[in-house]
Amino acid sequence: MEKFIIHGNTRLVGEVEISGAKNAAVAILPATLLIDGITTLENVPNISDVKIICKILSSLGASVTWTNEHTVVVDSRSLNCTHAPLEMTSKFRASYYLLGALLGRCGDVEVGLPGGCNLGARPIDQHIKGFELLGAKVDCEQGRISANAKKLTGSTIYFDVVSVGATINLILASVLAEGTTVLNNVAKEPHIVDVANFLNTVGADIRGAGTDIIKINGVSKLTGNHTYSIVPDQIETGTFMIAALASGGDILIKNCIYEHMDSLSAKILEMGGKIENFGDSIRVSSSGKIHPTNIKTLPYPGFPTDLQPQMGVALSIANGTSIINESIWDSRFQYTNELIKMGAKITAQGKTAVFEGVDHLIGAPLYATDLRAGAALLVAGIIADGVSELYNIHFIDRGYEHIEEKFRKLGTKIERVNE
Ligand code: UD1
Repeated sequence: MEKFIIHGNTRLVGEVEISGAKNAAVAILPATLLIDGITTLENVPNISDVKIICKILSSLGASVTWTNEHTVVVDSRSLNCTHAPLEMTSKFRASYYLLGALLGRCGDVEVGLPGGCNLGARPIDQHIKGFELLGAKVDCEQGRISANAKKLTGSTIYFDVVSVGATINLILASVLAEGTTVLNNVAKEPHIVDVANFLNTVGADIRGAGTDIIKINGVSKLTGNHTYSIVPDQIETGTFMIAALASGGDILIKNCIYEHMDSLSAKILEMGGKIENFGDSIRVSSSGKIHPTNIKTLPYPGFPTDLQPQMGVALSIANGTSIINESIWDSRFQYTNELIKMGAKITAQGKTAVFEGVDHLIGAPLYATDLRAGAALLVAGIIADGVSELYNIHFIDRGYEHIEEKFRKLGTKIERVNE
């Protein structure tokens, strides 16, 4: 097990390059299984979740080759198995995309019930309802989920909740189905649009991604020999934007999409930060004087739940009282216990947390409870007085590539050491 030793009191200054989007990559890699051919993916983030997916694809018979640090070539012509190894699939949440992809391509699939960050209850009833409406029989028992269908037929599906995973999974399952599928009340996150753009590049007919209704006209085949570059990571971009604000720093964030950051940018401006848009890069700077604000997490284009913990760090040193209302996950304030150890004044109850800003945080031993909480605590260690030790950093490695190197280039003194 590794940990970070973080020397705090750092004002982050310099440039950082954003990697490809984790949440797009973990969907697009399984999507390559729908293609009877070779696909080249560029700007793939080199993170542990992606490495696990690549191993799973290999175990299913696909040939997966990294041709450089960020380019993966998948040949799915040799796919020969539809039962994914339970021990790998139950490790992380996005393994549920294998359901849609293998059901769509082969009419048969079995995976371990998806694991992933513990953010409270994470049901997949909307995925299952959608597969059944396309004609599949779905069974969940003994920690595994299986689905099969002789034929999938397009249908109209209305999601009861706005779900990123269910939206993408039903796109995956219906691109090769017979007829037209209409998905209502879908999620609109940038990575959903990216998955649809990828599938349209290889021959699918998906319309409306990024709006509330997506229409998929089934096609008979998706073709190989295409190259696709994954969209920049919205959440990594936001993490560095908040780190600039919280540290009173000045960071030029390169290879990102300004328009994906609107809800966060609005908050950063309210909190006294400055933002400049240079097309594919964003500069965020701050005097370090942070105004309090209130935040409610919502599906895109609302404020992303995956940036809520990082924002909690900035609010814990704001000049006044702020409230965060977490409307997506039941249990996403576990990181506040760690911030309290650092001197923060936070009262979290249920889905609401009240932050009474303190002058500064103080270094402490910190335990990441999940991926984004880990990133938030890293930022907390960077801005705190003194030294912090951050444990459970495997959570951070799931979704952030070379994070300590990126922060080191911005002036942080940070070491990765074996516990
Ligand atoms: C994805 C992201 C995750 C992010 C979340 C919300 C990936 C791999 N993960 O997770 O980082 O925090 O979106 O932006 O992209 N729900 C149901 N039934 C379902 C599905 C979801 O009730 O069948 C509920 C969930 O409990 C949650 C809400 O819907 O309250 C949103 O979940 P969803 O958008 O599906 O999140 P994930 O796809 O798991």
